Amino acid sequence: ITFTIQANKPTATVASTMWGLFFEDINLGADGGLYAELVKNRSFEFDTPLMGWKINSAKDVMYGFYFGSDIQLINQPDKAATNPRFIRVALHKTKKGELSLTNEGFRGMGIKKNLRYEFSVFYRQQTATAMLHAELITEKGDIIGSAVLAPEQTDNRWHKVEMSLTALATEPKANLRLWFEGSGIVDLDMISLFPTDTWKGRKGGLRADLVQMLADMKPGFVRFPGGCIVEGRDLAQRYQWKKTIGPLEERKLIINRWNNEVKTRPVPDYFQSFGLGFLEYFQLCEDIGAEPLPILNCGMACQVNTAELIPLESLDPYVQDALDLIEFANGDGSTPWGKLRADLGHPAPFQLKMLGVGNENFGLPYVERFKRFQQAIQRQYPSVKLVGSTGLLSSGEMFETTNADLRKLKVDIVDEHNYSAPQWFLQNAGRYDHYDRSSTTKVFVGEYAAQSVGMTNPTNKNNWRTALAEAAYMTGLERNADIVQMASYAPLLAHVDGWQWKPDLIWFDNLGVMATPNYYVQQLFGANKGNQVVPMLDKNKLPVTGQDSLYASATLDKAASELIVKVVNAGGKAQSIEANIDGLRKLPLTAKVIMLQNNDLEAENSFTSPAIIAPIESIVNVQNKRLKVDLKGYSFVVMRIKL
Ligand code: AHR
Repeated sequence: ITFTIQANKPTATVASTMWGLFFEDINLGADGGLYAELVKNRSFEFDTPLMGWKINSAKDVMYGFYFGSDIQLINQPDKAATNPRFIRVALHKTKKGELSLTNEGFRGMGIKKNLRYEFSVFYRQQTATAMLHAELITEKGDIIGSAVLAPEQTDNRWHKVEMSLTALATEPKANLRLWFEGSGIVDLDMISLFPTDTWKGRKGGLRADLVQMLADMKPGFVRFPGGCIVEGRDLAQRYQWKKTIGPLEERKLIINRWNNEVKTRPVPDYFQSFGLGFLEYFQLCEDIGAEPLPILNCGMACQVNTAELIPLESLDPYVQDALDLIEFANGDGSTPWGKLRADLGHPAPFQLKMLGVGNENFGLPYVERFKRFQQAIQRQYPSVKLVGSTGLLSSGEMFETTNADLRKLKVDIVDEHNYSAPQWFLQNAGRYDHYDRSSTTKVFVGEYAAQSVGMTNPTNKNNWRTALAEAAYMTGLERNADIVQMASYAPLLAHVDGWQWKPDLIWFDNLGVMATPNYYVQQLFGANKGNQVVPMLDKNKLPVTGQDSLYASATLDKAASELIVKVVNAGGKAQSIEANIDGLRKLPLTAKVIMLQNNDLEAENSFTSPAIIAPIESIVNVQNKRLKVDLKGYSFVVMRIKL
């Protein structure tokens, strides 16, 4: 099968934002995942205040329940509105071994041998007679790390104190046990344990293995903080960025929108601590060289739940949140929000260029609200591009009308979401070849993933069939770079013991990470994106989008002076392809070939066999401006040739 690649005729610029990340705290993505805190419910603010904690008392446990008064849960909303609860421990010449509190972590705590862990706690007392013994214990009850703390201050004010524990063994499901010793009364709150091998070694930071996986994708942007959690179950529980910055103990915890979402797999312990808040999201983007794309609530709650609306006349605080966010990200120290950012430790602006208004909101109520945001933001920050939400492609007419209405408003970018069968992705790989180019509006394919069974079906798999179909579709997104400027797979992360949604790009447990075939597809596109599209045509001068089961795109990487060719063979038969490359030197050259392949479309990666589908590199010769490659069945190849 012969193609022509016109490497000397670039047709469009690939946006620097192309191939990014969609981040949401779903499937324990943030708390219990990226955010490295090991203690669950550290501030006793879950709806069930002692969820995740177990009191052990030699004398006060009957029928497995604690009936004593030595540990009390105190609630003082009038004194501390954002973090009202704490525990009060009363000691009466208590000996070690008589009274303790154990935290189970998020599905256990992943503890690594020889690694140092930082334990911290807020305490308040009037006498310095209490001692705290912290222990790391295995599932079997063996102690694999311990340290002792004697709180010193006696002024009856809150103080934070820290100590270190070094683990003697590796344990995937450890617990943290606190024994109390001595006499007197001590109040405790914000009981926390962090590993010290966080991303960039930041105290109280992010899991380095997970961030590395994200960085390796070379993302052009990170969209945060979701997803449906932006909307919230109801508006009171929507995501509010101002409540996610500043001291951790003042970030008011709320229930996660995904808490108990799947009735057959209830996850009742899913809350948002906001330890990963907006400053941390911006910092993450900066660290991995991605443009930040925050998405804000537009005055509408999640349609699936309450579909609550804020009347237009009351929308101003929502719009103000957006204006303040831009100032927080970009303002200098002379502005109130810019100063706050500097005071929080980041004097340099984050150079926010884009902002999303609403997630999967649609119809007239959405468009009316979007318009209010657009008017205010354009007036004050005309250079900030706005991303409008069009909802799910599968919502048909609703999607189309919202899309058309937003285009009438000349929105910069529309965000379209799509979870469909692999076949849909193959059949629609040419979707943007025939797209309406009459408006200035660009497209952000903000959430997409091929579903092996059906949307949100818990038996969905990240198999090779889904990944190959996504690769085919992505060649169509890349080829139409003049229209499609951003795209991100969703959801991004999932904990093996705490997920609500399948499939997901990256799976993790308490100690490790597993890349799906879909991840490798995304990574190959991200790391080999190039910056100009060049035509790759079949013998009828048509884009390669399904002919002989092949899908293809080609770009130039100007800086590396390389041509990058991507070809998907979605059929099971091996095929020989030959591409004549205009604009290449005649000299014998070589091409680096990176291949993902498996003969079985049902194949998946797993923690025990993580490389069933993983990139394999080889070299082919390029003679006389002709690239000849034997493509195996069910394969995706990326080829790089020096120009
Ligand atoms: O990616 C999971 C969910 O799918 C997102 O939260 C939502 O935007 C979409 O419906």
